[in-house]
Formats: sequence, structure tokens, C-alpha cells
Amino acid sequence: MEIIKAAIITVSDKGSKGEREDLSGPVIKEIIEKYGYKVVEYKIIPDDFDIIRKEISKIADEEIANIIFTTGGTGFSVRDVTPEATKASCYREVPGIPEAMRSFSMTVTKRAMLTRATAGIRKNTLVINMPGSPKAVRESLEYIVETLRHGIEILMGNASECAR
Ligand code: MTE
Repeated sequence: MEIIKAAIITVSDKGSKGEREDLSGPVIKEIIEKYGYKVVEYKIIPDDFDIIRKEISKIADEEIANIIFTTGGTGFSVRDVTPEATKASCYREVPGIPEAMRSFSMTVTKRAMLTRATAGIRKNTLVINMPGSPKAVRESLEYIVETLRHGIEILMGNASECAR
């Protein structure tokens, strides 16, 4: 099974200033490593549109990772701009992934409707927003992780059989 290179970007004003421990980034790492992913980049950045957009673009354009997971900044707070920065970075939207995360998460908590998370593709890199809490990350990521590989392999040019 080919190794998938992953970048984790935790979006958090407090986390980027060392004022809050990042508990969500490590949850993403723990889960994806069980599925043959290698974390090649992990950053904690502020809830800043331009910084988020530049980080996503750099990782995709320099082909640093096949997939970027962001966590945080998907809610209603005025500083929650991760979805908008993701849309600004991606060339093609992938609505099915956040739809799947929200629909499953609604079986856990109706507050799942409050994440504005999105997903998209920039060049050959898939970008997925996760909510900010470790609980939300675990619930959402464990639901989608097995299916991601097929899409990423298509992006990597290792298109495997679609018909299942
Ligand atoms: N999704 C799951 N699976 N579990 C959760 O507990 N929390 C919700 C939602 N999605 C949650 C979830 C809540 S309370 C909010 S405010 C939104 O995620 C946005 O979270 P964020 O601003 O930390 O990204």
C-alpha cells in the first residue's frame, strides 16, 4: 500500500501563541498513521485568512503532501475563516467529504450542523477542514478516513478500480 504524505495544520490563535495545547492535531496524526499515512508537515497557525491560504497553497504547489488536514476555525466566531481560506486556495470543491462528516456527526450531536467545514483540491493535493475539538476530529475523521485513500490515489495518478 503506497504511503500517503499528510500535512496537519491546526488553526488556532491561542495555539499559535503557545497559550493553548493543541490536542486535535495529535488526534489526526494518531488516526491517519493507522491507515498508512506519513505526517510530513505539522503546523499551528493563527486564524488568519492569508496565512491559512498561503500555507495550503505552499504545501500543494510544492507537492509537500498529498493531503492537508486543517483543524479549527470552522464555526461561527468572527475569527473562524478556515473554510473561506480553503475555498480561496482550492481549484475544485469536494462537497461530499464535509457532507459525509456532517451527516454522520449529526447522529452524535446536532451541533454538527454548526461546522462550516469544507474540502477541495489544489493541484494534486486534497484539503479537508476538520472541526476544532479533539472529540469532533475523532468522530469525523474515523468516519471518512477509509474512503479517502481511493480519492487520493486517483490524485496521485494511481487510479484504482472505481467500480466496487
Ligand atoms: N462534529 C462532531 N462530530 N462532534 C462535535 O462535537 N462540534 C460542533 C461542530 N461539529 C462537533 C462537531 C460544534 S459545537 C461546533 S461550534 C462546530 O463543530 C465548529 O467547531 P470549530 O469552530 O471548532 O471548528
